[in-house]
Amino acid sequence: MHFHQISFLAAVALCSLLGLSSAESPGAGGDKPGGDKPKASATKTLTGLSVASASPTGTNSPITGGGAASGSASNKIIAVVVGSPTLNKSLVFTPNEISAKPGDIVQFQFSQINHTVTQSSFAEPCMPIQQSDATAAGVHSGFVPVSANETTVQTFDMPINDTKPMFIYCAQGPHCQLGMVMTINVSNQTENLAAYKAAAAKATKNVPANNFQGGVLGNIPKADAIPPPV
Ligand SMILES: *[C@@H]1O[C@H](CO)[C@@H](O)[C@H](O)[C@H]1NC(C)=O
Ligand SMILES: *[C@@H]1O[C@H](CO)[C@@H](O)[C@H](O)[C@H]1NC(C)=O
Ligand SMILES: *[C@@H]1O[C@H](CO)[C@@H](O)[C@H](O)[C@H]1NC(C)=O
Ligand SMILES: *[C@@H]1O[C@H](CO)[C@@H](O)[C@H](O)[C@H]1NC(C)=O
Ligand SMILES: *[C@@H]1O[C@H](CO)[C@@H](O)[C@H](O)[C@H]1NC(C)=O
Ligand SMILES: *[C@@H]1O[C@H](CO)[C@@H](O)[C@H](O)[C@H]1NC(C)=O
Repeated sequence: MHFHQISFLAAVALCSLLGLSSAESPGAGGDKPGGDKPKASATKTLTGLSVASASPTGTNSPITGGGAASGSASNKIIAVVVGSPTLNKSLVFTPNEISAKPGDIVQFQFSQINHTVTQSSFAEPCMPIQQSDATAAGVHSGFVPVSANETTVQTFDMPINDTKPMFIYCAQGPHCQLGMVMTINVSNQTENLAAYKAAAAKATKNVPANNFQGGVLGNIPKADAIPPPV
């Protein structure tokens, strides 16, 4: 990659990381004023946050630090931190490779600054899965902006329905291209995280899904969340 490309991507990333809207960051490649759809969706889903306490199966208990918290029940809640308060470490899902079984819930815990959890296919990274499979329900959390002063941690609880591999990306700015991707239940030698990430780096655009789908938004006390990477 050439230096000017790195600088450009870094600048774009910075705009995104700082939560600047497309209107405020005209240099943000690919962002159009027409990006109103995701915005509306974000607003709608954020309204739902006050309802809190997502509990899709009724088996949830708050997760305390250190990874998957399983009670004695066989269904687990598997926590994944989205982003980080440290700018240089912000474009990550932690962990970015998990396995989960049907009935488990992956709980995305949003850190700074403004990310999504969106499902793509392996073949078309940084694009909603509906692009390659019109029948797929797909997953999209909407944009979840988090500022430094939040007193709770916003969550997106995503039930695992089947044993199929899932490929997840952040649809913000160029985050997907910059490596903010993860996989669930991938054991294929070729269609794995490294290959997905490499393909994402070459994607020409990063597109959010149109509709909120595939999980429940909520929030949990900071003390129950996994500390984000810093
Ligand atoms: C979060 O990002 C979306 C998409 O870029 C943007 O529309 C929205 O305004 C951002 N929210 C905040 C609070 O910055
Ligand atoms: C953060 O990233 C910038 C730009 O890539 C780099 O110059 C700086 O050294 C990094 N800081 C840390 C603490 O890694
Ligand atoms: C938290 O930070 C945001 C953005 O930086 C600001 O708009 C908001 O007023 C702050 N809220 C509190 C309670 O300080
Ligand atoms: C999920 O993927 C892992 C490999 O990463 C595999 O061991 C496990 O059996 C899979 N689970 C299900 C329910 O398919
Ligand atoms: C990986 O997935 C592809 C496409 O489904 C399949 O053709 C291939 O056999 C798989 N490879 C392994 C090692 O499972
Ligand atoms: C899992 O099932 C739920 C409930 O039917 C659905 O809302 C969600 O979209 C499904 N998730 C995926 C990835 O298909």
